[in-house]
Amino acid sequence: MKPITKNEIKDALYQVGLKEGSIVMVHTSLGSIGYVCGGAQAVIETLMEIVGTEGTIMMPTQSWKNLDPEDGVHWTVAEEDWQIIRDNWPAYDKNLTPTNSMGAVAEMFRLWPGTIRSDHPARSVSAWGKYASYLASNHDLSNIFGDGSPVGKLYELDGSVLMIGVDYDKNTSLHLADARAEYPGKHNCMEHSAIMENGHRIWKEYETLFVDGEDFKEIGAAFEKEHEVRHGMLGGAELRFMRQRELVDFAVKWIEENRHCSATEYKI
Ligand SMILES: CC(C)(COP(=O)(O)OP(=O)(O)OC[C@H]1O[C@@H](n2cnc3c(N)ncnc32)[C@H](O)[C@@H]1OP(=O)(O)O)[C@@H](O)C(=O)NCCC(=O)NCCS
Repeated sequence: MKPITKNEIKDALYQVGLKEGSIVMVHTSLGSIGYVCGGAQAVIETLMEIVGTEGTIMMPTQSWKNLDPEDGVHWTVAEEDWQIIRDNWPAYDKNLTPTNSMGAVAEMFRLWPGTIRSDHPARSVSAWGKYASYLASNHDLSNIFGDGSPVGKLYELDGSVLMIGVDYDKNTSLHLADARAEYPGKHNCMEHSAIMENGHRIWKEYETLFVDGEDFKEIGAAFEKEHEVRHGMLGGAELRFMRQRELVDFAVKWIEENRHCSATEYKI
């Protein structure tokens, strides 16, 4: 396959509806595009050149390795050694802590000059542009995905979601619907992360909504039957661009009508 250039990225993103001033949450699989001339840097530069300084780009920059081994996130470590992790995992530092499975684009984006990363030790976002500070500030330990969280604020701003080569199971905005909807088995759980508090590294316990995203692909497929999602191709990657509010409003209804299975039956 021929290397994909910034001009080709730009054309494809314009075609699905990204434009100057867009406020957009972006989820990317770089490898699915093919060979991008300039890799993650080219993708980020193009996004920024399109939305411009009046626009805003947000990406998930989660560091979920900074959670309790009980959640299954340290699967290579034997249970008798889990306490070593709780006692020694480095405290979250938004300038240092790497992302986990968020992709090469998000990992580069969090380090991009002018990008602001939120304070959540395991579920942060990073944002650039006009509303970056608003979106990334006050990311509550417990209110990870609800109203007032970064995805809740994106809803208030009537922002969009752009998926590059990934499916709805990676569409973090659907967790806002988890938070808003009522369904059997909805419950909170206790999470733990290493953070700095009063100058000391501690293993912090906090209560938050249990979420797992098991039915997100199903929600996405149902959403696309009833709502306008702009589709396109960028090399080998399918592009999908949608209004976040429409997605979240649809998902709240879908969850309330269809999620009969107790969330406790799922495991992360
Ligand atoms: C998990 C995920 C990141 C994997 O996608 P991926 O394409 O395999 O990985 P990346 O996006 O990190 O891209 C790196 C890959 O791009 C490829 N690559 C390297 N240089 C490249 C270039 N110039 N052009 C294109 N691809 C290139 C390589 O294959 C590399 O894989 P490697 O590190 O194994 O060598 C992706 O599926 C995903 O989920 N992305 C969205 C994450 C997200 O938003 N999550 C939300 C919360 S759940």
